[in-house]
Formats: sequence, C-alpha cells, structure tokens
Amino acid sequence: MAFQHPIDAPRTTDFGVLTTSNGNPVDTNQTSITAGPEGPISIADFHLIDKLSHFDRERIPERVVHAKGAGAHGVFEVTNDVSHLTCAKFLSHVGKKTPVFARLSTVGGEAGSADTVRDVRGFSVKFYTEEGNWDMVGNNTPVFFLRDPSKFPDFIHTQKRNPRSHLPDPDAFWDFFSLLPESNHQLTILMSDRGIPDGFRHMNGFACHTLTLVASDGSYKYVKWHFITDQGIKNIEPAEAAKIAGTDPNYAHRDLFNAIEKGDFPSWTVSIQVVDPKDIHKLGFSIFDMTKALPHKDFPLIEVGRMTLNRNPENYFAETEQSAFSPSNMVPGIAPSADRMLQGRLFSYPDTHRHRLGPNFAQIPINAPLNKANNHQRDGFMAINGNGGRRPNYEPNSFGGPHQTNKVGTTTQPLGMPVSGTVGVHPFVLTEADFVQCRVLYNKFSEEEKARLARNIGGHLCNAQLFIQKRQLPIFYRVDKDYGRRVEAELRKNGSKI
Ligand code: HEM
Repeated sequence: MAFQHPIDAPRTTDFGVLTTSNGNPVDTNQTSITAGPEGPISIADFHLIDKLSHFDRERIPERVVHAKGAGAHGVFEVTNDVSHLTCAKFLSHVGKKTPVFARLSTVGGEAGSADTVRDVRGFSVKFYTEEGNWDMVGNNTPVFFLRDPSKFPDFIHTQKRNPRSHLPDPDAFWDFFSLLPESNHQLTILMSDRGIPDGFRHMNGFACHTLTLVASDGSYKYVKWHFITDQGIKNIEPAEAAKIAGTDPNYAHRDLFNAIEKGDFPSWTVSIQVVDPKDIHKLGFSIFDMTKALPHKDFPLIEVGRMTLNRNPENYFAETEQSAFSPSNMVPGIAPSADRMLQGRLFSYPDTHRHRLGPNFAQIPINAPLNKANNHQRDGFMAINGNGGRRPNYEPNSFGGPHQTNKVGTTTQPLGMPVSGTVGVHPFVLTEADFVQCRVLYNKFSEEEKARLARNIGGHLCNAQLFIQKRQLPIFYRVDKDYGRRVEAELRKNGSKI
C-alpha cells in the first residue's frame, strides 16, 4: 500500500453537527453576535466565549526537561523465560504480550526545539500490565552525569538558558562539568558520534539505574535493562545535523511517525544484565552509582523480549503530551534499589505530574492502568473516572472495600534488602575508578572517532572562559593522555590561549 500522510488523506467522513462544549448545536461558527452590524459583541454569545476561553487555556506547562518528544504505541513480547528471576506477571512466560506506549525525546530543548541537536535522548516506555503500569524511564546512554539527585536541578539549569541573556551558556555548561569530574563518562558519550542519533529509531535505550527483580519466593537480583535497537545504531554528522535543524527541526519525530504510518515498525531487543546481591562489593565501584556501567564481559546480556512500536497516537496532546512516565511506577516483581538518583526520581516524577497535569493525572486514559485503579483516593480537580462511585472511601470498612493482598513478593518494595550505617551526609568520593570506564570507552574508539570526539569538544569548550577550559582539560588528560592532547590541540585550533 502506498504511504499516504494523514494530512493529505481525503477527509470524507461526516463528523456530525458542531456543538459548544456543553453540547448545544452551533448555528454559526463564522460570525460573532453583535449589537447591529457595527456594534460591539454581545456577552450572550456563549459559543464565542466558550471558544475563546478554552483557547486561552490550551497550553499546559511543558515538561521541565525532555519537553520535545514523539510518542508511539506498541507491544512487548517475552522471548526468553526469566520467570525464575521475577514474579512480574507480564514476564511470566515466553510469548506473553503486553501493550506499551513509548515516548522518545531530547532533553534540554523546549517543546519547539530542533531534534538534531547534540543532546542525550530520553527513552520512556509504559508497560500496561495486568498488575498496573511499569514505566521504564531511561535514556539512550547507559550512564549518567551525576550520582546524587540534589545536583540534578543545578545540572539542568546549566544545560538550559542563562538567567539573564536567555541564551545557551557555554560557561555554565563547562563550569558545572569541570567541577564535577565524575561526569566524564557520559560527557564523552555525549560529545562522541552517539551525541546526535539519526532519529529515534536508530538508538538504544537504557534504564541506566540498577533496578531489582524480585522472584516469587522473595529472593532478588539486581538488574540493568537494555533496549537494543534492531534498526542498528545510526548517527548524524554535526554539520549535517545543523543543516537539518534548520530545514526539518522535527526530523526525528517525522521519521518515527512516517515509519510507523508506512508499516515499517521499529523494534528493540530487550535484555538484562543480572547481578547477584552477594557480588556487588566485588565490582570495584558502587552498583548504585549511575556514572558507571556494568561490564558486559562479566555480566552478559540476557534476552528478555522484544518491543515493537506499531501505532501512532490518534491525538498528540491527549496521548503523547499528557503521558506521564515515572520510575516509581513499578509492578510486583520489579523494585527500586538504593541508587540515590533513582530515589530522587521516585519522588520527582509523580510530583511534577501533579503540577503539569493535576492530581488526577493517573486517570487520564494514556496513564490509566488497564486493570483499573481500585483504592480510596477521591475527588481533586478533574476526577473523571466515576470517582469510586458508591464504593467505600475508607479502610478498614465493613462494606467490601478494596483490600490488600498480604502476599510477600507482590509489593514493589525490595524485600530483605540489607541496609546499614548511620543517618548523615555520605558523599561519593572521586577516585581513580571514576575514570576507568571512560578510558576503556575512549580506547575502543577508532582513530577517526577519537578525532571527531576531540573536535566536537574543542569546538564547544573553546566558547567557555579560559579558567574553565583550564579546569576541564585536565579531566580529559586524567581519562587518557591521548584524549587530553587531542582536546588541547583542538582548543588551540579554535583560538584558545590554553
Ligand atoms: C523527564 C526529573 C534523572 C530520564 C523528567 C521530568 C522531570 C525529571 C521533573 C519531567 C517529567 C514530566 O513532566 O512528565 C528528574 C530528576 C532526576 C532525573 C529529579 C535526577 C534526580 C533522569 C535520569 C534519566 C531521566 C537519570 C535517565 C536515566 C527522563 C526521561 C524523561 C524525564 C526519559 C521524559 C519522560 C517522558 O517522555 O515524558 N525528569 N530526572 N531522568 N527524565 Fe528525568
């Protein structure tokens, strides 16, 4: 079948009589009611007021990060049995299918910004399971710049606009990173070829955090989730990306939408790395430090399933814009870990959803679980799902209200996880281990990749003040002398006095 963009599709359907928001038929949608041909408009023109006042309220706050994104529906199918690792019902047997909704995004730009910028890409997937929603809210990089959530708002401020000029600020960008050397690993990925993926179909997704899988006997393992693109990795070279940013700022969104519309459904092979809790101190770094990845040679990928995106949203705002992903959305059998960043995120996402979409955001169809929420929450703005009807709204009660399961292993909390120590401020201390993984990555790059990496960094870092350059450059040297030398040479080429 030849691809036909919906914009060009014939619109022969009769959608019926136009009405006001309260359903009254509208006799004219062309002319306001006025006092005579030259007089003012009558306030009795309810249709006009209804229309204007709704229009005045069309915008909701955009996401504070990841504001630009594209969504798509699809399916996840289990291809390998991992039921010995988790009691999650959606992973119970090979062949089991679960509907999903994914949203793929850039991070720093506003809702109207260009897709082909150098930035991390967001990779969020909502699994609508029979036990509620599990959200995998990850990125296209396996690691992150930070390891304490208290730094996240500051970090984002440095990536967005300067408070005075409202322009991107290379000083803030590099000032922050140069004061946070543990960022070197993800910073290197960001400045490498992978910093500008060719659309959303040709990139991987990673939960990044260490999460926990809980088996039906209550035993648990730590895992890292990987979504590996079946389309293959493809990146865009910076000059071409800059050109596309001007000519087709919605490049990635369009590419995903058109591929799905044509029936060319993108898919990702979903795998996990599994760590036994007894082994976590053998790694030489904390498994809860998300600036680190798990070496594949020690922890090989174990396939779990395949995610395919096969249906575009019918309405962008209703589905993609109102979608609310949260790492705190977990199902029995999947639990958080002590990762501090994750702990911060468990709070932050539902909090921002209440701000962005209101306290009943979970009732919006795209966010509502298929198995229907059943609890004592009531009222609040926009309670649209019947609000519990006549059912009891308190517990304990004698009238058959919803009851807890009392089954060990069915909560989303880690069970039997040992915790020790004193309450206090326990900072991560920068050590040699914070440079090792980036060094390994750097040395996997080809000559050309190294040259491009240094060129990308030099061409950007040169815009920061000299004292900041002088603080950042030694970080590259500490990762690898050759890395430092190349960046230094590129800085000089760009006129730096370093
Ligand atoms: C979106 C906070 C770290 C991936 C967001 C949003 C907030 C936020 C407030 C907007 C959500 C919305 O409006 O619906 C934080 C905080 C973090 C953190 C406080 C650290 C403490 C991370 C990390 C990742 C990540 C480490 C990836 C591993 C995403 C993605 C989205 C997002 C993919 C977009 C979700 C969507 O498509 O709707 N984050 N974030 N964030 N964040 Fe984070």
